[in-house]
Amino acid sequence: MIVLGIETSCDECSVAVVEDGTKILSNVIATQSDQHAAYSGVVPEIASRTHTEWIMGVYREALERSGKTRVEIDGIAVTCRPGLSGSLVVGLSFAKGLSLALGVPFVGVDHILAHLYAVQLENAVPYPFLGVLVSGGHTMLAVVKSYDDVEVLGTTIDDACGEAFDKIAKQFDMGYPGGSAIDSLARRGAADAYSFPKPSLHKGDHRYDVSYSGLKTAVVHHLEKYLNAGFEATRENIAAAFEKTAVEILMTRVERAVRDFRFERVVAGGGVAANTYFRSRMLELTGRTGAAVFFPSLKLCTDNAAMVAGIGYHYLREQKHSPDTLDVSARVAVFRGRE
Ligand code: KG4
Ligand code: ZN
Repeated sequence: MIVLGIETSCDECSVAVVEDGTKILSNVIATQSDQHAAYSGVVPEIASRTHTEWIMGVYREALERSGKTRVEIDGIAVTCRPGLSGSLVVGLSFAKGLSLALGVPFVGVDHILAHLYAVQLENAVPYPFLGVLVSGGHTMLAVVKSYDDVEVLGTTIDDACGEAFDKIAKQFDMGYPGGSAIDSLARRGAADAYSFPKPSLHKGDHRYDVSYSGLKTAVVHHLEKYLNAGFEATRENIAAAFEKTAVEILMTRVERAVRDFRFERVVAGGGVAANTYFRSRMLELTGRTGAAVFFPSLKLCTDNAAMVAGIGYHYLREQKHSPDTLDVSARVAVFRGRE
């Protein structure tokens, strides 16, 4: 089955063609970074207008690169939540039009589930596993039982992990997009230059939750207070120490969940899963707990339509089509295990 995927939830305009849920025939990702760089953040109005301008071109290129013709498309998968409403509407409306024109069904998919599926495009990781979703909008630890059956263990109680990277990068003019800018600066910095505080959410309901607002406040407002003797307050050192603390906050919860539930497999997904230090710390988990660790390749960590087409295949195969009246939603779905 050939599925065309469409992803426009934020600032990546992407269309992909995937065969049988795993074989990527094309995955065109047009990033709007340049459009938003002057504002050091995504401007929703600019994002949706740019998607409107680009979507047809990106679709044509994805189809051409796939080596397929439009009559060979069996179904369409499109991100319909969560994300920026105006941006999601562009992708969904395009998917609906294409579905009518080609006479094939379409299905709206959840962006978070698509990130947790991304790894399957390269590695058939058996379910269940501990899913660690770390992106710009979301942070979530979950028992992933199938492509659409997820039980949430923990989330962030304030900022998302990637959001913290973006805010620190903006504050210190480190570059845009923030996460990858910090990643490269940190490689040249001393992670021990600062000792930033970490949240102590270890009891009851918050055992697997993370929090990033305290770290953000410490870095933005009280930087000097945490500088260790013998180190300088350079951007490289700030980036390295921030990155180390941000990843440690996450790893404490990940390791706790692996031990508590005796997970045999851990899968990461989302933009922050592209982070060099995070990847190296995740790989250490295997030695520490015995759990096997899997990541998507870098291109499949950040937003892309291949993961959308991949997960979409499973819905379409089971005839779980979306109704013509499907609308977008900016909000995160209520997954099981969550109030
Ligand atoms: O998954 P994604 O592309 O979009 C959302 O669904 O949010 O994730 C984007 C986030 C941004 O916050 C970006 O700064 C972060 O992922 N990111 C990184 C890296 N690459 C992207 N954070 C840390 N290190 C990276 N190498
Ligand atoms: Zn994403």
